[in-house]
Parts: sequence; structure tokens; C-alpha cells
Amino acid sequence: MTVRVLDKKAPDALAVPLFQGEQLASQLVELADKAGLDVATLQNDFHAEAKEVIVLYPNNNPGRRFYLIGMGTTQGFADVQNALRSFCHRYKSKLPVRLGLDLRHFSAEQFPRVCEATVSGLLLGLYRFDAFPKAKNANETQVFGNEKSGIDIMAATELIGVATSSAQRAEVMAGVTKLAFDLVNAPGNQKTPEMMAEAALKMGEEYGFDVRVIRSEALAEEGVNALLAVGKGSELPPLLLVLEYGHKTRKKKTPSFGLVGKGITFDTGGISIKPSTNQHFMKSDMGGAAAVLGAFAVAAKLQLPLRLVGAIPVAENMPDGKAVKPGDVIRTYAGKTVEVTDTDAEGRLVIADALAYLLKQETPHVLLDVATLTGSVIRTLGYHAAGLFTSNDQLAASLTAAGEACGEKLWRLPLWDEYGADLKSDVADLRNFTGKPMAEASSAAKFIEHFTAAHPAWAHIDIAGVAFGDSEFAQSKSATGFGIRLLTEFMENWKEKEA
Ligand code: BES
Ligand code: MN
Ligand code: ZN
Repeated sequence: MTVRVLDKKAPDALAVPLFQGEQLASQLVELADKAGLDVATLQNDFHAEAKEVIVLYPNNNPGRRFYLIGMGTTQGFADVQNALRSFCHRYKSKLPVRLGLDLRHFSAEQFPRVCEATVSGLLLGLYRFDAFPKAKNANETQVFGNEKSGIDIMAATELIGVATSSAQRAEVMAGVTKLAFDLVNAPGNQKTPEMMAEAALKMGEEYGFDVRVIRSEALAEEGVNALLAVGKGSELPPLLLVLEYGHKTRKKKTPSFGLVGKGITFDTGGISIKPSTNQHFMKSDMGGAAAVLGAFAVAAKLQLPLRLVGAIPVAENMPDGKAVKPGDVIRTYAGKTVEVTDTDAEGRLVIADALAYLLKQETPHVLLDVATLTGSVIRTLGYHAAGLFTSNDQLAASLTAAGEACGEKLWRLPLWDEYGADLKSDVADLRNFTGKPMAEASSAAKFIEHFTAAHPAWAHIDIAGVAFGDSEFAQSKSATGFGIRLLTEFMENWKEKEA
């Protein structure tokens, strides 16, 4: 699959994305004219509602077809991307080897985002999880998406440069997103901690960032005990991935970001075992890790002028004779002791150690952790937004704006001290679960806050409801890639004065 920008001859098949609104009527006049169709009929039959598709077969030009693709009114990045993804997903088996993407009717202002969103939508529409390809259907004749296939973008002459860079961005973003999809969709037995390390090393090599794997012997030596405790019940030892992009000897002004992503390859709950219903979805408990790896890959490939340091704690949370037990007390890497009152609240334990580990190496301007942390955030916000926790109003505003712009919504939830009150323990500095089934997303965030060394620009993002979900693209819940675009957008726009 190649993506290129054309300014002349259109391929036979043209995808024409269209917004609802004032301009639609005149755009349809032009299309009706090109196709030799009756304008009134076309205007009656196509309203450009989101994901609406009609195909025109001009009889004055055999072999030619126009796919009119509705994108609704909102013009939000995610809506545009989704409309094109949906079109490609539904029509890919019928599309020819080269598909034109006609963007000539968009204004210079709309163009860069529409171009990136439409190309990336088409590319994501081709995604299929095939770690275990099912027997090939003999009738399968799909050519769009094969090596020879491609997308030919049609843009006004003065926008060809913009089109080229937007398309490149879309290709990088879609490529990375597909890798993240593969990781999150992979079953637990296909993404053991070692396999996660392998995947990270491979991504680092391919995209240009450093990955260090710290295995359990070294973790024990250094006292990364909360991570070790969570991994103890598994046959497969836990590990910590340490990531780095951008020079350390940077100019002082280069913004630096510390990114931590929860990498539980499977969460049974441990001894505090989860019910079996829906437990299989817990293979997605490394969605935060996928988002952080994705953000590193995008930043590195696009050579963003930033410094990124990352820590991804990877473990499998299993019940076993050797597993950590409710009531056990552990000494975390930061030195604080924790009474593990619930082994299913493992995410905050591994995040605590990863944050402390990262901060021991350096203090970035901004510190973010991304985690599928609580069922509570799903009960609060549903599947529509991730929970955002921070005491820094400017940081909250920048992150929220980034989410708004890319369609990965954040909603701020409280981080008041009251929510941390029940984390006191009689036998340790803290306990990992309040014991009360209320406001758990906030109390979890308060727990994590203890391990941020009072960093002035720390935010915690709970993606439990948005990392993995139902969609038209899969039979069951599947990866969304949530966080990659959000982190990229946020980091690109961040200014030091903001935090
Ligand atoms: N990984 C889960 C959170 C989760 C739930 C993610 C649903 C995605 C969908 C986390 O480790 C967990 O088990 N949290 C517990 C915490 C509780 C024991 C305090 C929860 O939310 O029930
Ligand atoms: Mn859990
Ligand atoms: Zn978990």
C-alpha cells in the first residue's frame, strides 16, 4: 500500500468525502454534472450523514465510479477518520487496486486535518487482527490493501505540499496504531512479558527510540518490589521496559515528558480473583503500555523536537501458591510500604514502582501515567471518555484540549485529599484499596499520587473504559489505540509556561 499525492489524472475509482452543510448542495451539483446524473435525485438521495455511502456509476464514463462518503456535520478529527474507516471496512473487498481520494473541495484551512484523518481512516479500515489467520476464503479477491495497491490523493496545486506531509503523518500514525491494535488484541498467551519486551525492542529499532529491558533479577536487586509482588503469582517473571527518545544533552528548552503505561498482560485479579464472566477482556490490561509505546514510535518517526522518557511495568497478575496475598506488606521502590488489601488493585502497584523508577533517573517537565486502572471510571464516564486526574489546572486544560482536538476525550475527575483518607493502613504507610466500593477511580489516583514525588505537572489518565471496546470493526471488543494520538497531540502543543 502506498499513499501518494496526484494533481492531475484521476484514477477510475474516486472516494469523495463530504460534510453536511451549506456547501453540500453545490458540491452535489458538480458531482451530478460529472456523472451525468439528475441533480435533484442526487440531492434527494444523499445527505452526507456520518458514514452514509452511495456509489455513482457515470454512464458517460464506463469503469469510473464515485464513492460519496458522508462525514456528518461535526468536522471533528475522530468523526472524519471514523467515517472513512467505516467506508473502507465495508467496501474494501470491492475497491480497486488504486483508489483516488478527492480532497479538492476542502478549504486550505480544513485541508491538513481532513487529509490526515481521511487517509488514516482508509488505512485503519484495512486493519485485521491476523495473528492466527483463519482458513482463507477461496472467493476472497480483495486487492485494495495489497502491496501493489495505493491511495492517490487529489489536492489543489497549492496544497500539494501540505497534502504530502499530512499523508505521511497519517501513514505513520496508522502504522503505529495498527501495531498497538495487534498488541492489545493479542491473547494473553501471545503477549507474555517476554513477548512484550520483544515487541518493544522491535518497535524501538524500527521507529528509532531506545528500549532497555530490566528483568526480574535486576528488579530484585534494585528493590522494584511492588512490580515483583504483582508478578509473583505467574510462571512468567515480570519486567520493566525503560524507554528513551531525544537527546539527554538537550537544549534546556526542549520539552521533556515522562510517560508511564500500565502493562499487565493479563489480569485475573490474582488471589482476589475476578469472576469468570468477561475475564477474557482482561487481556487488554496493557492498553496504557500500548499507548505509551505508540507515542514513542510516533514521536521518533516524526522526529518531534522533544525528549521522552518512559517506564512500562509488565507483569501477569495470576493466583498461585507463590502469589502475593491479601494483607501482605511490601516495600515499594520509592521506599514506602504498602499493605496489599486487594491483589486485583495491582495496576496502582506497578504504576507506583514505574513512576518512582522513572523519577530516580530524571525529572521531566511533565509526568503522565496512562492505565486501564479501574472499573469505577467506566461506571462514572462509560465508554466515552477517559478519566483525567491532576492538581495542575493548566495541564488539565492542555490535555483536555488535545483530547478534544483528536477525538480521544478526557473528563477531569476530582483528586481531593478526602479520596485518599481511606488509604491509611495500620501496618504500612498505605494500603492499596480503601475497602469501600465508591469513588475508586479517585482513590486509585490518590494512591498513585504518593509516588510522583509531588511533581508539579503530573497527570493520571484512567483509560479502562476506552482502551478496548465494541465497534463495527470487530465481532467482540477490540483495541481502540486510545492514547497514541492524544499523547502526540498534547506533547506537540505543550509549552513550558503551561505547567
Ligand atoms: N484492570 C482492572 C481495571 C479494569 C476493569 C480495566 C474493567 C478495564 C475494564 C484493574 O486492575 C482492577 O481490577 N481494578 C479493580 C480495583 C478494585 C479491586 C479496587 C476494579 O476496578 O474493580
Ligand atoms: Mn486488577
Ligand atoms: Zn488490572
